[in-house]
Amino acid sequence: MRVAFLGDIVGKGGRRLLANKWRTWKLNHHVDFTIANGENLAGRGITPNLARKVLKYGIDVITSGNHIWKFDQIIPLLEDEQFPLIRPLNYNDVPGKGSGVFNGVAVINLLSPIGMTPHLVEPMFKIVEHEVTRLHEMTPIIIVDVHGETAADKIALAYYLDGKVSAVIGTHTHVPTNDARILEHGTAYITDVGMVGATRSVIGVKKEIIVEHLITGLPKRFDNAHEEVKGYGVLIDIDDRTGKSYAIEPFVIEG
Ligand SMILES: [Fe+2]
Repeated sequence: MRVAFLGDIVGKGGRRLLANKWRTWKLNHHVDFTIANGENLAGRGITPNLARKVLKYGIDVITSGNHIWKFDQIIPLLEDEQFPLIRPLNYNDVPGKGSGVFNGVAVINLLSPIGMTPHLVEPMFKIVEHEVTRLHEMTPIIIVDVHGETAADKIALAYYLDGKVSAVIGTHTHVPTNDARILEHGTAYITDVGMVGATRSVIGVKKEIIVEHLITGLPKRFDNAHEEVKGYGVLIDIDDRTGKSYAIEPFVIEG
């Protein structure tokens, strides 16, 4: 099976690129299943409307992260076991689901506490191990989105899960890393897959606004940029029987 994982879709630019190109692109590249991080579909956060819309562009599962709670209206979709939208599994006492099995593919979402909001989440290692054991009863194909700021904990998590899951894919920084590889026991890994959004920006926001904000410290409205929209992702080839991956290849779709 070939799974595509797309980095954080940011605002209108990211949505438009997928609306125009994803169905054809995935057909041409023989993609069987698509996962995308969508926590910034609305610029920041995600609305029910946009979640439904992006599924029509050919996305099968939407993962998220620290911005998932921006709009309360999203909670019923998180609680609906059939709807393919998940939030980080290791949040404390919040509504919604942190994993799911959709068309035979299990997807788990995690939030790394480092550099984020450690008081809101549990450490992720033991929680995910327990979840992987549970999901293995249903399918050998398990993909983990680890949404996090720093590289070391994402890499450590991937080694911890090597051979137990098909892939550990990093999201959140919006900047793709150059370290896609298959680990020793068959887990595909990349520290950050990048984003689907405007690359002439500061991680999706208009560059002038962020520069000004960092110089003056004054609060600003973080409007999304629209220049040089690109779609970053990885293709993962997985043995359907064992759930082990044998190839991971980064790609870029020009907007
Ligand atoms: Fe994030």
